[in-house]
Amino acid sequence: MARLRLGVLVSGRGSNLQALLDACADPDFPAEVALVISNVPDAYALTRAESAGVPTLVVRHKEFADRAAFDAALDAALRQARVDLVCLAGFMRLLTEGFVEGWRDRIINIHPSLLPAFRGLHTHEQALEAGVRFHGCTVHFVRPELDDGPIIVQGVVPVRADDDADALAARVLEVEHRIFPLAVRLIAEGQAVVEGNGVRVRGAIASDAVLINPAP
Ligand code: GAR
Repeated sequence: MARLRLGVLVSGRGSNLQALLDACADPDFPAEVALVISNVPDAYALTRAESAGVPTLVVRHKEFADRAAFDAALDAALRQARVDLVCLAGFMRLLTEGFVEGWRDRIINIHPSLLPAFRGLHTHEQALEAGVRFHGCTVHFVRPELDDGPIIVQGVVPVRADDDADALAARVLEVEHRIFPLAVRLIAEGQAVVEGNGVRVRGAIASDAVLINPAP
């Protein structure tokens, strides 16, 4: 079967891109990275893509008159690369409604919180401030509203009493690297299908593990 062609949008360090590149290195994985686009010219993510032999493109948002023009350039590059699924992997630009709707149900994002809690930036600080006992990360289909859309996979980590934002971020990031390729695989295999505001995952086994923190 043809592999799903991924277009990965990045702005920074690219560790989630790396998780996708590593997954795609397995010939049995049902997707491949067709193009990596960065809006930041010196993003380390570009080096990762080049090392993996994947085509890269820099589209500097500052060179465009407005968001619509920037998004149109992204859209053209993704379509030219015959991308099937757009993956936002630490892409720190807001996308226009026109762009998002043009890729409806074919664009996913990884976000470092258990959505719908803690949208936006500084999610680990938000979690510590709120005093939650569990935190985590979410892969979801993108809708025009920020950090909104049908949830595909979530991963949970406990919050420890002595955590600071960096410790918590590191614990969550490890889980991000597991759930992002998992979500891509479920979509590529046709197992994750949008239904209303949610995603139905066929054939997946939901975890029945109960977590209590602090432990009783
Ligand atoms: C990741 O933690 C990702 O979840 C987050 O940025 C980081 C990028 O790291 N994304 C967002 O906050 C999007 N709202 P990476 O460049 O190493 O993948």
